[in-house]
Amino acid sequence: MKFYRDDFFRRTLFLALCGRGHVSPNPEVGCVIVKDKKIIGEGWHPYYGGPHAEVQAIQNAENQGYCVAGACVFVSLEPCAHTGKTPPCVEMLIQKKVSEVCIFFLDPNPLVSGKGVQILKNAGILVSFASSNLQNEYSFFYEPFQKYITTHIPFITGKIAKTKNGEMGIIGENMRISGDETQKFTYGLRQKHDAILVGAHTILVDNPHLGVREIPKYYEEYEENTLPFLPQKVPRDPLRLIMDPHGICPHNAQVFRDENFLLITEKTQKVSAEKYFGKSHILEIPVQKNNSFSLPVLLQILGEKKIASILVEGGEKTIQSFFQANVFDEFIEYESPNIIIHKNVIPAPIHSGKLWKTFFIGMDAIKIWKDF
Ligand SMILES: NC(=O)c1ccc[n+]([C@@H]2O[C@H](COP(=O)([O-])OP(=O)(O)OC[C@H]3O[C@@H](n4cnc5c(N)ncnc54)[C@H](OP(=O)(O)O)[C@@H]3O)[C@@H](O)[C@H]2O)c1
Repeated sequence: MKFYRDDFFRRTLFLALCGRGHVSPNPEVGCVIVKDKKIIGEGWHPYYGGPHAEVQAIQNAENQGYCVAGACVFVSLEPCAHTGKTPPCVEMLIQKKVSEVCIFFLDPNPLVSGKGVQILKNAGILVSFASSNLQNEYSFFYEPFQKYITTHIPFITGKIAKTKNGEMGIIGENMRISGDETQKFTYGLRQKHDAILVGAHTILVDNPHLGVREIPKYYEEYEENTLPFLPQKVPRDPLRLIMDPHGICPHNAQVFRDENFLLITEKTQKVSAEKYFGKSHILEIPVQKNNSFSLPVLLQILGEKKIASILVEGGEKTIQSFFQANVFDEFIEYESPNIIIHKNVIPAPIHSGKLWKTFFIGMDAIKIWKDF
């Protein structure tokens, strides 16, 4: 099989996905080392504070007996130039005498952007970038990281399932709208985000688990055309955020099954909630005149807790309040071909987003909206 430059670049992103769910608030990064037109080493950033993708790839090549001197290093994000939890990657690339570093995207962190490139160039290493076409095709990849690193506010994705007539369910009833494969796609979305947020009524009616039970084939729609071999990804449950201003959630709900949750409540409920769940699980947020939490305040506090991305999974009132506060970065609709005939249907929210992408999983159309 013949590989081209763009294939190596794409491969860095697929490798980067292997760290998804484990590296935040660091970015997901993948690296491919190529010598004599052959991949000799691959790596990715596996967990927060762990070795960087470049270090892993070099080690992978050396463990197989290859020498990386004179090799070309493809990396999804500009190699770091600063000492953080690990030493700077650029120093190691210089030390190992690689001949070229091919960078998919510059680091969007304004404090470090371009510094790695400069140091590599100063050391006489050739630096090149992915074509603007390829960068445009995958510009979404670092969007959440870019927002968080530049604003310290989490990237917010909304997600609903609805029928082709725009119904989200029946009031008071637990109802599955999308198909089984689409449900698995949701596991991928949960793995992608640091936290999942739902409203109290969804806990009451659906008692959802909100976990990542497995990593699906459709982890991302763009993974369909992956190159051969991808290492096993490790599922992990995101933090569960529950908006319950009036303390109506049953204490035995599935979302409270372990320590991985934060109940967002209001002053009057705080003491009793803390008594039952423990202080570390309660976040008090002021409510505004319209009885809604101040979402900008909430998101700022969550950002300070290093939550870089949130998936808002409903229900209708919760989603509406996020639209009203104009805080969605992305909104995903699963549109099933079915319809519900009932007098108490829950209407899906109307919004002014621009349709960015549509694809199908089984019978469900997956529509992704941006720019609200
Ligand atoms: N089709 C889908 O994708 C989907 C997804 C999830 C759920 N559902 C369905 O949706 C229904 C539940 O939706 P729902 O609209 O009734 O309720 P919900 O959004 O699940 O919960 C609403 C409640 O959460 C609290 N809340 C939400 N946003 C808030 C904010 N910004 N500030 C303060 N409190 C906030 C309020 O609690 P208080 O009432 O105590 O003030 C509010 O009444 C269920 O039937 C469920 O099956 C469908």
